[in-house]
Amino acid sequence: MLPPTMSKRDPHSYNDDAQPEVEEVAWRARVDFLARVLEGEVVLTLRAPTSSAQPIDLDTRDLAILSVSGDSGGRLPFSVGAPEPILGSRLRIELPAQARTVRITYRTSPEASALQWLSPAQTAGGRHPFLFSQCQAIHARSLLPIQDTPRLRIRYHAELTVPRALRGLMAAAFRGREEKGELAVEKWEMPQPIPPYLIALAVGELASRELGPRSAVWAEPEVVERAAWEFAGVDQMVRAAEALFGPYDWERFDILTMPPSFPYGGMENPRLTFLTPTLLAGDRSLVSVVAHELAHSWTGNLVSNASAEHFWLNEGFTVFAERRIVEVIDGPEVCALQAALGRRELDRALGRFAAQPELTRLHTHLAGIDPDEAFSEIPYEKGFLFLRAIEEAAGRPAFDRFLRGYVERFRFRAITTDDFCALAEELLPGVLARIDAPAWLDKPGLPPGAPESRSTRLDAIRALGPTLPSEEIGRAFSPVEWQLYLEQLPHPPGGELPAGLLAGLEARFHLTGSSNFEILVDWLELATLGNFAPALPRVEEVLGQVGRMKYLRPLYQALCARSETRPLARRCFEKYQAGYHPIARQVVEALLRG
Ligand code: BES
Ligand code: ZN
Repeated sequence: MLPPTMSKRDPHSYNDDAQPEVEEVAWRARVDFLARVLEGEVVLTLRAPTSSAQPIDLDTRDLAILSVSGDSGGRLPFSVGAPEPILGSRLRIELPAQARTVRITYRTSPEASALQWLSPAQTAGGRHPFLFSQCQAIHARSLLPIQDTPRLRIRYHAELTVPRALRGLMAAAFRGREEKGELAVEKWEMPQPIPPYLIALAVGELASRELGPRSAVWAEPEVVERAAWEFAGVDQMVRAAEALFGPYDWERFDILTMPPSFPYGGMENPRLTFLTPTLLAGDRSLVSVVAHELAHSWTGNLVSNASAEHFWLNEGFTVFAERRIVEVIDGPEVCALQAALGRRELDRALGRFAAQPELTRLHTHLAGIDPDEAFSEIPYEKGFLFLRAIEEAAGRPAFDRFLRGYVERFRFRAITTDDFCALAEELLPGVLARIDAPAWLDKPGLPPGAPESRSTRLDAIRALGPTLPSEEIGRAFSPVEWQLYLEQLPHPPGGELPAGLLAGLEARFHLTGSSNFEILVDWLELATLGNFAPALPRVEEVLGQVGRMKYLRPLYQALCARSETRPLARRCFEKYQAGYHPIARQVVEALLRG
């Protein structure tokens, strides 16, 4: 007999795997920008009719459940449990025997954790409001009542009613728009089964440009030309990725350039990747993020982690795949430099999590832990190095066969770390033992002998140490080289910067004016820690313009590191928090508290 806890296989869902599974979702919602809510109705179709009367538990967060009915339209008894801080509320519905569908009418809350409602002033155009969702890891439940675990894949139909002046987009196949008076009804279908965290929508004033036979870019009209230029290489990327990992299974690969408050760099919503506008550097220097989200079309969206405890399967594989795409397009040297940058980020993240070593394992245990709080670069970069270690042990040709076999075997499924290990053992016998896979997967930190990336350009940057590069050397740096240079400089208060270095850098290279956000934020962080006052107005500006957590975190942290600048951190947060995404607001709040 299984222990009782075995029926709950995902610690972040109320789903009980002895209960019926939902296979199809038909979702209708009216987007109310005034009240900042969705008035929703969802019809859930079970994989098979129930054999006897039994309950089904759904995940919800901050939803007002208005009615629940069954196949014949008759009301079904239901109860909404007390809200748990991480999980939200369990919605239990009592199903009769032979039940096949459940219809639920409900309303979302203005505080729905998956949604950000932007006022016109928070958009580039300034004329219309904007709405977008971000469901990974466990926010879909604040949009609709659902079995919100990636273990259970769903197909869906959706219909959104939006103001006529606006355009809705979903990460699904568009099935038409009908205008009715002041409103428009738009329809989509997602025919491939997906984990619920990949449900995604955006509503706003949106325009598009074709980028290739199966790609277009969407953005506010003010931004769309710049976005089209920046992402023009996307079709070449799709073709490179197909050559590496097999056919692209999602028909289209479109891009939506988000408003600046989007809390991530990118989100791999199927058919419609969401990207931060901070990628619009004007020189295509940040498009590896596009390669990353594209790579998720195989690793993540076809083969999905069964829960957040196996998140490394999504992100570690995707960083590996991203770098293989970069290697094909930009060459091995660029790839090695990006991997070196990743290693720096890994080391910093391992330092940050020194007090919670269990979160530095690849296979984590997250009962009672919010996945947004466990989030770090560790599953990305330690996962990448683990796969590199396997690749080195097996040889590239064998590992490439394994990668394709992995996608082929597990496509449209959700898997655990054990499933991965079993296939690795089958296709690459003995390799896991050779590299001591259990140390990688179940022990904190980084095992000895982790693969290192080597490059002569990297050596040259390291040789510079804390000296000011000559005009000639600095001008020849690529953006990644600038990042590597800045990150290898000593960071106060732990490290000591040579007097005058920050002023010298600024005078010679005007880093405060950089249009590449990666360089800019690395520089502003260092300048803040190093008490270089001329950079502070730009820090404040960035905190007011951008909501990407990757940038908010180091800048707020740097401001908090010194007593002179701590009040500025508080002032900025007071002033700008209303513009941050709910998840980003939480992260900064925790940081200011702690
Ligand atoms: N899927 C992630 C974003 C994410 C992870 C959202 C967990 C919510 C919970 C996405 O693919 C990602 O990894 N984005 C990175 C980009 C990168 C590593 C190139 C980001 O946002 O910085
Ligand atoms: Zn990712």
